[in-house]
Amino acid sequence: MAIMEYLNPARAPYNEDDRALIGVEHARRARARFARHPAYRPTPVHVVPGLGGAGVAYVKDESGRMGLGSFKALGGAYAVHLLAEHDGGTPFVCASAGNHGISVASGAAEAGVPCFVYLSENVPEAFARRLRALGAEVRRAGHDYEAAVSAAMTAAREHGWRLVADSSWDGYTGVPLDVMRGYGVLFDELSDPGALPPGAGRTEPPGGYRGEPALTHVFVQAGVGGLAAAAAGYVRDRWGEQPKIVVVEPDGAPCLIASARAGRPVRVEGHPTTLGRLDCHEPSLLAHRLLSHLADLYLTITDEQAAAATRLLAGHGVALSDCGAAGAAGLLALTPAARDALALDDASRVLLVGTEGPVEPK
Ligand SMILES: Cc1ncc(COP(=O)(O)O)c(C=O)c1O
Repeated sequence: MAIMEYLNPARAPYNEDDRALIGVEHARRARARFARHPAYRPTPVHVVPGLGGAGVAYVKDESGRMGLGSFKALGGAYAVHLLAEHDGGTPFVCASAGNHGISVASGAAEAGVPCFVYLSENVPEAFARRLRALGAEVRRAGHDYEAAVSAAMTAAREHGWRLVADSSWDGYTGVPLDVMRGYGVLFDELSDPGALPPGAGRTEPPGGYRGEPALTHVFVQAGVGGLAAAAAGYVRDRWGEQPKIVVVEPDGAPCLIASARAGRPVRVEGHPTTLGRLDCHEPSLLAHRLLSHLADLYLTITDEQAAAATRLLAGHGVALSDCGAAGAAGLLALTPAARDALALDDASRVLLVGTEGPVEPK
């Protein structure tokens, strides 16, 4: 499939309905809970000058998040903790491309509740091993993420287990909203004093936001879009309408860009991609709704572009998987027209989320 860029014609301001769903307050509530967790600490930010022609790129490095390898550690576990407060013993069940299951399994283990995780055949066995080490029972189902989701839904219905999905659909939004609010923690850490170092040389913009260096752009990779929507909600609430938000998807699974174009959530057929954790063919309903007015640009990248971004960042001492580097790949892949539309230049301060470390570290 050809590379696509889609400048969002439906961009509109963050509003009170959005704030009720996701923003700074929800992120802080989640963070207050994680602050009591022994493995919690803010993840580091790497400063990469000049990346993709920007003044500076800040790479929020989620590879060490709570010893679980990705930002997803913040989402599923948070939703599980909230659910476990209400009803102790009922087992949890989820589908996962890998990382969401690890988060749910770790939250369930902490709550002392059984956990079942459905993985499609495409998910690397390394994830299955990590899930079992966390005490979860792994079940293989189908050939794509959606097949695993539907198997998890059936199991929840048949056994009365609690479904903890990272995607949302009509009639199922409460739990995935908590998952997204958990992701908000990583963006809240960027609000801490000194979290965004000034960067180098002539990249210093005059002013900044309340005396802080101002973010001008955020590139965030998407599977079902939960992370991107959490980013958009937090960034708009905290830093306003100014920063441009760019949603980056694999060209093999461009469900959010297709849904934005269609004006409603749509399923895409796509084609195989090596970006397994981003290989989602249907967007989260909530994420689609938020991003369809909060995102400025949607863009797709190829697997090769993601791999090249991984190598480039490794050269700067930032070790990520190709999924983890996909946002950076988006920055590097911009056409001159998109760069102009986003006003991206050598004074720009770009936030990237290194969502995941190397999946099977050498
Ligand atoms: C490493 C990594 N990056 C990005 C994403 C995308 O997150 P979302 O599905 O919320 O869009 C995922 C999802 O599993 C992931 O595991």
